[in-house]
Amino acid sequence: MVNIALPKGRLGEKVYSMFERAGYACPEIRESNRKLTFQNPDAGVCYFWVKPSDVAIYVERGAADIGVAGKDILLEYAPDIYELLDLNVGKCRMCVAGPADFRDDPARTLRVATKFPRIARRHYSQRSRQIDIIKLNGSIELAPILGLSDVIVDIVETGKTLLENGLAPLETIVPISARLIANKANYKFKYDEICAICENMTQLLEQE
Ligand code: PRP
Repeated sequence: MVNIALPKGRLGEKVYSMFERAGYACPEIRESNRKLTFQNPDAGVCYFWVKPSDVAIYVERGAADIGVAGKDILLEYAPDIYELLDLNVGKCRMCVAGPADFRDDPARTLRVATKFPRIARRHYSQRSRQIDIIKLNGSIELAPILGLSDVIVDIVETGKTLLENGLAPLETIVPISARLIANKANYKFKYDEICAICENMTQLLEQE
């Protein structure tokens, strides 16, 4: 049986339906919204619903053999896993955003609010720009509005949150999408099963 960690929420449901179409259905999963584990021994799969930012931890430590995580999480936490496939869903971009008329003053340390300090640090260190990171856990858009930061580094999907808060994307750092990832040791132990999943998912992506 292959243990699969799925990100709980809208993305996870989309991803589960991809697994379903690829031949790994587990009908019970659609019947309960509280239960966290589901098995289909006939299809050789066991699914877990995991908080999206925790999927890589389950996979890195081998509690799940494979899982689906956003590229944002993989870049931020750099887990020691194999990245097998870009699933082409959950597409968005990591951006620098702020007031549309923002002009960076190189004489001052730039204050950057973000949930992604590693990504932000790497982006600005490549530009040799000195920054002060303000680590927040959500509603990042508030920071420049209240003067807590000059800009933010955050995920932009539709751009609606920025727009409705009088902010604009200033620069794209990296495009983001959901990735199929695998535990390194379990990938070897369950090579045939994991490769079959990968191939069926690839075929599905090519058809759609
Ligand atoms: C993310 C991100 C933005 C929003 C962008 O927040 O942090 O706030 O989505 O989406 P949009 O461009 O389509 O408006 P999330 O919903 O993950 O909640 P958070 O504020 O708790 O981070």
